[in-house]
Amino acid sequence: MPSVVSERHELVTTVMDRIIGIVASGAVEREGLDLIRLALLELTQRPDLFTAEHFHPPRDPKRNSNMFELYRSDGDGSTLYVSIAPAGLTTPVHYHTTWAVIAGLRGAEFNQFYTRDDAGRPVASNNFVVENGTAITMMPNDLHSIRIVETPDRFFSFHLYGLPLEQATERMFYVEDSDEWKYFAHRPNIRQFNLATGLADG
Ligand SMILES: [Fe+2]
Repeated sequence: MPSVVSERHELVTTVMDRIIGIVASGAVEREGLDLIRLALLELTQRPDLFTAEHFHPPRDPKRNSNMFELYRSDGDGSTLYVSIAPAGLTTPVHYHTTWAVIAGLRGAEFNQFYTRDDAGRPVASNNFVVENGTAITMMPNDLHSIRIVETPDRFFSFHLYGLPLEQATERMFYVEDSDEWKYFAHRPNIRQFNLATGLADG
């Protein structure tokens, strides 16, 4: 019988191979993102391969979330993360400077999307809850803010970006009080997860 480690390795590699193929077939536009979304959602069919036993929530509840890097494609392209975040966590309105697909496994995350007014300020538009088996797709300049909903489980999700987060250095968020856009600080708490061994560093 295959182990959790080998099944997870196989599943993530298969899904990422398909996604890398979609990305390689042309510029990622909304249509391509939808194919990527469908591929990424396959990970949400196997919650048994992504448990708290292997992906620990943050020890310090004041740290906003734990992120594990699961897979990075050659040449620092599409990069997959697992994120575990506590209820109540919110973010300001922001964009990612690269395409993004977020798929839910456990818990729920309320996403508010925005358009921009003539001055570039965010204007609330539609919203969507990411939870088990659902996902959102965003183009590089699309805006959203999030709030983790109170549920029995911490919010556990898959984040796929067009490039590694540490290279998305131009990501900005909106400060409502001062009506200005600011750069995100570098995220210090991303850990590497080795699919072959099933162990995270740190
Ligand atoms: Fe985001």
